[in-house]
Amino acid sequence: MSQWTASVGAQQLGRLLDAQYGRGTRSPVTSLNGRRVPAYRSLADRIRLLVLEGRVPVAARLPAERELAAALSVSRTTVAAAYEALRTEGFLESRRGAGSWTAVPAGNPLPTRALDPLPPEASGSVIDLGCAALTAPEPWLTRAFQGALEELPPYAHTHGDYPAGLPALRRALADRYTARGIPTMPEQIMITTGAMGAVAAICRLMAGRGERVAVESPSYANVLQLMREAGARLVPVAMADRLAGWDLPAWRQVLRDAAPRLAYVIADFHNPTGALAPEEQRRALVEATRAAGTVLVADETMSELLLEPDVELPRPVCAFDPAGSTVITVGSASKSFWAGLRLGWVRAAPEVIRSLVAARAYADLGTPVLEQLAVSWLLGTEGWDSALEIRRAEARESRDAVVAALQRHLPDWEFTVPRGGLTLWVRTGGLSGSRIAQVGERLGVRVPSGPRFGVDGAFEGYVRLPFTVRGPVADQAAVRLAEAARLVAAGAPVAVESPQTYVA
Ligand SMILES: Cc1ncc(COP(=O)(O)O)c(C=O)c1O
Repeated sequence: MSQWTASVGAQQLGRLLDAQYGRGTRSPVTSLNGRRVPAYRSLADRIRLLVLEGRVPVAARLPAERELAAALSVSRTTVAAAYEALRTEGFLESRRGAGSWTAVPAGNPLPTRALDPLPPEASGSVIDLGCAALTAPEPWLTRAFQGALEELPPYAHTHGDYPAGLPALRRALADRYTARGIPTMPEQIMITTGAMGAVAAICRLMAGRGERVAVESPSYANVLQLMREAGARLVPVAMADRLAGWDLPAWRQVLRDAAPRLAYVIADFHNPTGALAPEEQRRALVEATRAAGTVLVADETMSELLLEPDVELPRPVCAFDPAGSTVITVGSASKSFWAGLRLGWVRAAPEVIRSLVAARAYADLGTPVLEQLAVSWLLGTEGWDSALEIRRAEARESRDAVVAALQRHLPDWEFTVPRGGLTLWVRTGGLSGSRIAQVGERLGVRVPSGPRFGVDGAFEGYVRLPFTVRGPVADQAAVRLAEAARLVAAGAPVAVESPQTYVA
């Protein structure tokens, strides 16, 4: 189990139940979905939903029956019957004298480990909604490489190994932070192989086997998997509802109780939910992580993809820790420009950068020179900002098309439309997201299911849709998903294993 064992107190569970479903949980006979059901059944259903929605982690210790009964003002028999029902359904495991822990049933499809990119020849028949990444913003890709080729000759006389990155690009990125109001020196920047390369380098240095890493729940699937494979113990912290950012009391509790070595967050247009953490939350989380001695990794991969003209972006997380003693920032050219460059970076204190660079000798040694020159050219000309405008226009058009198509064909699927980013986090009307993904694959639409973005089994009732398709393709994707939903609702047979969707 890659996870940290959380404990949920009786008062805390009471608050979570109230916050999500109102105080109805506490009456002896209550209604869920308009039905009148016994109180124990309602309580069991609601605890099950908290687990499936990632509000209570899997493998969390639940309060003793007597304590929960007192906190909810219900009888102990009600709690005992609810726990028994959860045990029968596989959502609770108990050991006499030791307590009870949340679980997901053995048959609940968990995300597979393997990633299986869709072969290019399948692109004519399958609508691939697995990757939140757009095609290159031409003519700027071609122009950038033309500019890079002109800059290349002096580098041909060197060995070409730059483990910290090309000085010109480190300077250009440092200047960009300085222009955003966060004074930065080139020594605070390291160029990496995409944001993934940056997170991998940080994990190698700081989050080895058994180390605790607090993550948002849900979070970016590939980073979760990277951390699991590094042997880190993931500590999930639920996101606030309706794209309201982080749940600061939950963060403070995890920082206090689990004392994680690292915390990994996506403050800007979070993948998958699209949430944008407000500025006061950023300040508060930096303060809380600093007080806990936890290093806060802020992934800014999506930060430039603001899709609304009237929204003022909060200051970056590192603005609240400019010297970089607590915050390590991860950036990338993948969403602002093009993922095919495989170019990212780290911004941190100079001594952290030196340690990351030293550790890199045993990983990938460096990032290709020509790609670095291309990004340096883009940042030094109007190329970056012009390409970004193309990006934003495409993503905005796609977001609006995807939202309209879902409203047309799947009116009972729920979501909150984000103001930026590339992803829509969709509740699939009570149906299993994993099963929809599996049936969708057969019908020619590929979507990643919710559990890929959770820690150990949460978010079964979700799928993530990217803003990468427009016009009739967006409509056709929703038509196929609606057909998949119809088949799943009708009980279409599907294997237990979820498809090996490539997620980015
Ligand atoms: C939050 C986040 N981090 C990292 C990545 C991967 O970035 P890169 O292509 O730079 O490795 C993605 C891609 O979707 C992402 O959404």
